[in-house]
Amino acid sequence: MKKIDISTYINKIKLTSCIMNASGALCTTDKELSDLLNSSSGAIVTKSCTKKPRKGNIKPRYFEWNIGSINSMGLPNLGIDFYLNFFQNKKIKKPIFLSISGLSIEENFFLIKKANFSKKITAIELNLSCPNIKEEILGNNLYKISDFLESIFKFNKKPLGIKLPPFFKEKHIKNISLILNKFPIIFVTCINSLPNGIFIDINKENTVIKPKNGFGGIGGLIIKPFALSNIRKFYTFLRKDISIIGCGGISSGKDIFEHILCGASAVQIGTQFIKEGISVFDRLKKEFIIFLQKKNYSSINNFKGKLKNFQ
Ligand code: DHB
Repeated sequence: MKKIDISTYINKIKLTSCIMNASGALCTTDKELSDLLNSSSGAIVTKSCTKKPRKGNIKPRYFEWNIGSINSMGLPNLGIDFYLNFFQNKKIKKPIFLSISGLSIEENFFLIKKANFSKKITAIELNLSCPNIKEEILGNNLYKISDFLESIFKFNKKPLGIKLPPFFKEKHIKNISLILNKFPIIFVTCINSLPNGIFIDINKENTVIKPKNGFGGIGGLIIKPFALSNIRKFYTFLRKDISIIGCGGISSGKDIFEHILCGASAVQIGTQFIKEGISVFDRLKKEFIIFLQKKNYSSINNFKGKLKNFQ
């Protein structure tokens, strides 16, 4: 039987497996990050961090049902120093993506500068899309985003990518791509959760999470069609050296195939990782390899981005 290779590159960063965790999913504490270091995930993304530790929103703030999840975590994290220190004295065999989500433009500058000093951080995933905090950093103001990136790349030397919210119109994806294409960004991660959904407990006739009157970011299986459409559109509009990391609704090897067929170079697992725990990476890897065997593909380059129109 042919050997199946599921390694990949995110720009020039090599991953031995194209499957990693999504930021926010079991990647906040020492124990969670240690489990990820010892797992078969191809890379690690940390919980989006701020300058100071944060407790986050009041609980319950996460809920899942058969086909989705809702969260309004409010950026609970141990502060950037914890994440930089955690990796400092560890033997590390895979790329580390530090997710940052400052509450202001200045805080993001500070966090990026700090990450630049750490040799153990492979790349920064700049999260511009947290839907659960009051502060809206840039919104959809393209001038502000452009200025912001211009300032960042005056000093930043670390490989840097951006985590994007879902977009629902082609012109929005086109416009943001035109801006991103002007900067030396090495990847985009799409998509973050669909903002401000509601899930209802019909017996109690109430919402299932407490913060923000029950409004929260929706993830899991039900968002997969939107993840796929965003990946597909960004794949057509972004510079070819900007890799896409697909995120949204993956719970099987077949889902990974779909993300890559749309143009993703790697994928992140959020809701399903929280549901299933650390063994999800072994299971998905196995399922994905068996799926590729059946399709007679030996590496992801055989089909990446090659989605065809209906015929
Ligand atoms: C949180 C949620 C997000 O979707 C995100 O991108 C960052 C932070 C949160 O609520 O903690």
